[in-house]
Amino acid sequence: MDTIISHLSDDEKLNSEIFSYAGKILLEGGLVAFPTETVYGLGANALDSGAAAKIYAAKGRPSDNPLIVHLSKVEDADKYCYTSELFWRIAEKFMPGPITVVMPKRDCIPDTVTGGLDTVAIRVPLNESARRLIAAAGVPIAAPSANLSGKPSPTCAEHVAADMVGRINMIVAGDESDIGVESTIIKIDDGTITLLRPGGVTVEMLEEIGDVKFDRAIIGKLADGERPLAPGMKYRHYAPETRLVMLDGTDERIYEFLSEQAKSKKVGILMFEDETEKFSDLPLCRVSLGEHDAESEAHSLFKMLRTIDNEKCDVFYTKVPEKTGIGLAVYNRLLKAAGHEIIKL
Ligand code: TXA
Ligand code: MG
Repeated sequence: MDTIISHLSDDEKLNSEIFSYAGKILLEGGLVAFPTETVYGLGANALDSGAAAKIYAAKGRPSDNPLIVHLSKVEDADKYCYTSELFWRIAEKFMPGPITVVMPKRDCIPDTVTGGLDTVAIRVPLNESARRLIAAAGVPIAAPSANLSGKPSPTCAEHVAADMVGRINMIVAGDESDIGVESTIIKIDDGTITLLRPGGVTVEMLEEIGDVKFDRAIIGKLADGERPLAPGMKYRHYAPETRLVMLDGTDERIYEFLSEQAKSKKVGILMFEDETEKFSDLPLCRVSLGEHDAESEAHSLFKMLRTIDNEKCDVFYTKVPEKTGIGLAVYNRLLKAAGHEIIKL
């Protein structure tokens, strides 16, 4: 299949043409990748069972892993699920934005979208291009992240192209994703909020609305056969080819550990710029996460996870991040990328 790549620009007339063309492809059952503020999505008409099924084939995704349904405006939510008073309080505060809410689905949402579950995940992206595309299609858009299953989620059009050219009809190429990690997913029932996946809307922000329960899959390793509430949380994810290990200890202990390791292996570090400087006299490959704050770590994490394979190291080490704010989302993604391998020093 030929994949059309259309670049958004300052030319408003051209952009409108791109959105209406992409909207038409979606309405006709095709697949279109598009930017969002979290990561790029791979969209299909969420009301068309056959179109949604194509997403699983293009990504190589297990069919029991449900898709998020994206809307251009939150007012449409009632058409596709049974909302509640708590949902509207959350929507008023955080939508449009990097949050997804799981609620009981209505019949119009096919089983291919929900992986056979009786709930549906609803999200209204903040990114204007995403909302314009969904509005142009005139239907809700089912969209997972636009990467091959298991690879880091794409935060720019080039990463989408690397995984998806030849597999989908069109890529709407816009800006780099601001946030860089996928949306926060919550489930709400009986007036309680359960966090299924941490993201840009943080636990601290949600607690302003009410108590937040945690699904164990977020920071724990599930036992064999144990099921997370979000089916996708059970899969190995984001993993680079290179072995990635998290280090938990002081800089002094990490320094000693790295200098010992570097004697027998080609060792890389994935750390903040100021941290890589602390180890500058050791023979290491350095990949920088940029400025020392959680937002920039989230922003560049997936790009850097793609980069580290280029270094051809035996192993990459990274530090356990702070688990507050968006740091919890970074920790959750790193755990999966590292296959839960943490060394306490
Ligand atoms: O930021 C995002 O959410 C991005 C952009 C494109 O919007 N999308 C995204 O989709 O991350 P995906 O498919 O990579 O992750 C969706 C997650 C999976 O872990 C899936 O199991 C969970 O959402 N999910 C979807 N529907 C669900 C449901 N009804 N109940 C529980 N979990 C659900
Ligand atoms: Mg994904």
